[in-house]
Amino acid sequence: MTNRPELPPEIARRRTFAIISHPDAGKTTLTEKFLLYGGAIQMAGQVRAKGEARRTRSDFMQMEKDRGISVSASAMSFDFEKFRFNLVDTPGHSDFSEDTYRTLTAVDAAVMVIDGAKGVESQTQKLFEVCRLRDLPILTFCNKMDRESRDTFEIIDEIQENLAIDVTPAAWPIGVGREFMGTYDILRDRLELMDRADRNKVAESIEISGLDDPKLAEHVPAHLLEKFLEEIEMAKELLPALDHESVLNGSMTPIWFGSAINSFGVKELMDGIGTYGPEPQVQSAQPRHIAPEEKKVAGFVFKVQANMDPKHRDRVAFLRLASGHFERGMKLTHVRSKKQMAITNPVLFLAADRELAEEAWAGDIIGIPNHGQLRIGDTLTEGEALRVSGIPSFAPELLQACRAGDPMKAKHLEKALMQFAEEGAAKVFKPTFGSGFIVGVVGALQFEVLASRIEMEYGLPVRFEASQFTSARWVHGAKDAVEKFAAANKQHIAEDNDGDTVFLTRLQWDIDRVDRDYPDVTLSATKEMM
Ligand code: G4P
Repeated sequence: MTNRPELPPEIARRRTFAIISHPDAGKTTLTEKFLLYGGAIQMAGQVRAKGEARRTRSDFMQMEKDRGISVSASAMSFDFEKFRFNLVDTPGHSDFSEDTYRTLTAVDAAVMVIDGAKGVESQTQKLFEVCRLRDLPILTFCNKMDRESRDTFEIIDEIQENLAIDVTPAAWPIGVGREFMGTYDILRDRLELMDRADRNKVAESIEISGLDDPKLAEHVPAHLLEKFLEEIEMAKELLPALDHESVLNGSMTPIWFGSAINSFGVKELMDGIGTYGPEPQVQSAQPRHIAPEEKKVAGFVFKVQANMDPKHRDRVAFLRLASGHFERGMKLTHVRSKKQMAITNPVLFLAADRELAEEAWAGDIIGIPNHGQLRIGDTLTEGEALRVSGIPSFAPELLQACRAGDPMKAKHLEKALMQFAEEGAAKVFKPTFGSGFIVGVVGALQFEVLASRIEMEYGLPVRFEASQFTSARWVHGAKDAVEKFAAANKQHIAEDNDGDTVFLTRLQWDIDRVDRDYPDVTLSATKEMM
């Protein structure tokens, strides 16, 4: 990182990140406040209008108006001070999905939001592990400090122990629960005092000069001040000081304390993301990596969202720009098909609304409406045959057989399932033996979502039924070895939606048997989307 060349200013000011948290920790509220301070919305309360209301609001583009489709705010851009923030939304439901994982391949950092009373919860831990795989820098926001919360040292200890990351306080809370009155900004030697009366008001900042400044006593009641001074002394002794390099390599997380609903601590966090968060990073790709400062444009699709309109099959592919300066109307090469695509209607998501993106820079996320040519994992370049790597597809953890209520509609069902497979919403396997499809997902809720979408978007009632199989593995090896293996294990073999050979398993025993009996093929639980 230290040896990287200086980036052009437009790229250097970009911060592309996601929020990871357990449901209810305050992600939506925090997002709303980000947008408020980013000038993207006039009043807090707009992001909360989830579902229908949100759709109505984003029914803004002509395409949406004409066709009644909508795409929820999957990426939001806004400016804060000299920075351009691109916030990529991670799916909200608690089922951990591939979608979430892939979202995290498109960002350079994550903001981890925890509830001050609950600490590190299960979903946060899972998402953190994913960030860890990529050494993503993490900035932590401990929310809901206006309510009874845990002891500050206890929270920090829990993060250090459960997540094995150094924690450095960027601020320190003064008072807890009802007595919580604000924080001391360690990085800038300032007192930040919360206004409980006005939830959208920015906190009052008081510059002080060191912890023995008499100004402290003017603002902080004696009993709180005494405890605070004791704690901060201990913190300085026991906890590491902020080291920018360690934050950037993901081994240290700075923590801010605040209350999103009271707009408290949010600006400091935003400032922290700007100051300590990473610039757009080098993207791993084959046969060479892509650096953000390269003049030529390259980007990759990390998410595809289909519309909700049965009459039109348009989708929006979300492209993360890995390099260059994109301008509307540019012709880019779709590396997988080697075809040129003119990108005439790219969309930029500016919080409440979206706009045609006249231009975009490395780090930005643009939406590209298309008819299904663009798939997750696809790379677009100005001609060079580069393929972004590291966007995996996971073996599903739950499998069910899927049949159309009307057997004559099997072809329709196949089409519907293929669409969801391309969107990354499910794995679809066509067994070589017998009829029907096996659908694989990571969380049980996804079967219900799929069934209702197939019915709604394709007018096709479907049944999901128990399957004898419990998991699937991709089969790798020389072509003839794979063919020989497939012929000998027909009952277990299926093709995925890309035509790749898959081994359906019932028990771990099936996998062990293959490992033992077929040394020239390997089974893997992930495959790279290319
Ligand atoms: P999520 O997206 O992470 O699931 O969380 P969300 O922002 O929806 O917040 C979950 C609940 O926590 C909401 O209450 C929200 O108002 C509350 N909350 C968020 N930040 C704070 C905070 O700093 N302090 C306190 N005390 N509460 C906070 P709710 O009752 O579920 O919804 P609502 O009725 O407030 O809309």
